[in-house]
Amino acid sequence: MAGTCVVGLQWGDEAKGKIVDLIGDEFDYVVRYNGGANAGHTVVTNGRTFKLSLLPTGVIRPNVTSVIANGVVIYPPRLLEEIDQLASVGLDVTRSLFVSDHAHVIFPYHMEEERLAESETDGKIGTTGRGIGPCYQDKVGRRFGIRLGELLRPDHLRERLSRIVPFKNRLLAAVGNGHADSFRRFDAGSLAEEYLKYAERIAPHLTDTARLLQEAAKAGKRILFEAAQGSLLDVDHGTYPYVTSSNSLPSGIWSGSGLPAKHVTRIIGVVKAYTTRVGRGPFPTELDDGPDGIGERIRRTGREYGTVTGRPRRCGWFDSVAVRYTAALSGADEITLMLLDVLTGLPEVRICVAYDLDGQHTTHFPSDAYQLEHCKPVYESLPGWTEDITAAQKLTDLPSAARRYIDRIAELVGLPVSVVSVGPDRTQTIRC
Ligand code: IMP
Repeated sequence: MAGTCVVGLQWGDEAKGKIVDLIGDEFDYVVRYNGGANAGHTVVTNGRTFKLSLLPTGVIRPNVTSVIANGVVIYPPRLLEEIDQLASVGLDVTRSLFVSDHAHVIFPYHMEEERLAESETDGKIGTTGRGIGPCYQDKVGRRFGIRLGELLRPDHLRERLSRIVPFKNRLLAAVGNGHADSFRRFDAGSLAEEYLKYAERIAPHLTDTARLLQEAAKAGKRILFEAAQGSLLDVDHGTYPYVTSSNSLPSGIWSGSGLPAKHVTRIIGVVKAYTTRVGRGPFPTELDDGPDGIGERIRRTGREYGTVTGRPRRCGWFDSVAVRYTAALSGADEITLMLLDVLTGLPEVRICVAYDLDGQHTTHFPSDAYQLEHCKPVYESLPGWTEDITAAQKLTDLPSAARRYIDRIAELVGLPVSVVSVGPDRTQTIRC
């Protein structure tokens, strides 16, 4: 049995979905273990394109069991919407999708809490507004967290919400600072009835997914873990506080799914040929060089706009210091280099090989965001290429400058490059 994890080694949006699609046939189970509807992946099936946030990318494969494990936070209407979207093209997941009864539930007051917190100038993180952070806060705080399994007990749920919602209303009123119409108030009774309806539909999917996965592992099934977000957004090791609220590194698999780490024997680190980031936080190689600059050119060519929020992504050069840091933390065995075609046509391509921090060069990534803000990138410049590479099928089809760029990244990160992606289509892939 081999468990595999596909994990992004930058700030998310590394095109992990394409890698999952390429290797999806090799697995019996696909698992989400962190995050929630803050993630976004585009899935094409039966000629239709879906933007999924909660369901694992592998859900569209026949004969694959999909699992949303305990580490995920779930907004039930969104989950049902995604299930319905798939049903509308004849993809019935009634028997193939399992959701953990321990996964925590997002309520609309979580989104309202987040909206108010994000509207403060101080402490703004630039979150996706999906209630992720406040829901995890309630999980860890214990008093107000509600697990999906609790939705199956109507009286219990009504009772819990009757205590939680008045507290949340008081909290929102206090944070809303007396602006009567600037925040929403919630009614415990109607919220309970609304969520009980969702529960009826989600109930057939609910189970103890930790046991399910342990039994699958014992039976020799092949399990693919899809990490959401990127390693630099990991709450413990990312650029805190500009991170998400979960462990997006593979270290989150054990706690977020209940399957011990020893079952995960292959870690595939996914990187873009450049770097992007959405939301706030330090980004040393950011190209903030105006409407005619390279940053904007990468954004346009790479269609770098957030899947969930539509926000333009911040773009910059490849940062080998950051990727070496996350490669080590994730235990990556290999890297897959995505979107290489986006760099075609640039006269030179740059790689950040060190940081200048207060006049000293360092090749170590300071995970302290405040220190990182003061890091200036030290670049190595390589020649660019102008040839169209989107039809390349093997490394030797690539211009020598592109090959040199790939080799240098592999050398700096210290890992082999196993796949190079030269376009969005499945066929536009070089296996190295
Ligand atoms: P939250 O996860 O909504 O709390 O947002 C926290 C930070 O993570 C923000 O900077 C978001 O833009 C970023 N973020 C969350 N999910 C993703 C993702 O799937 N891709 C890229 N960035 C993300």
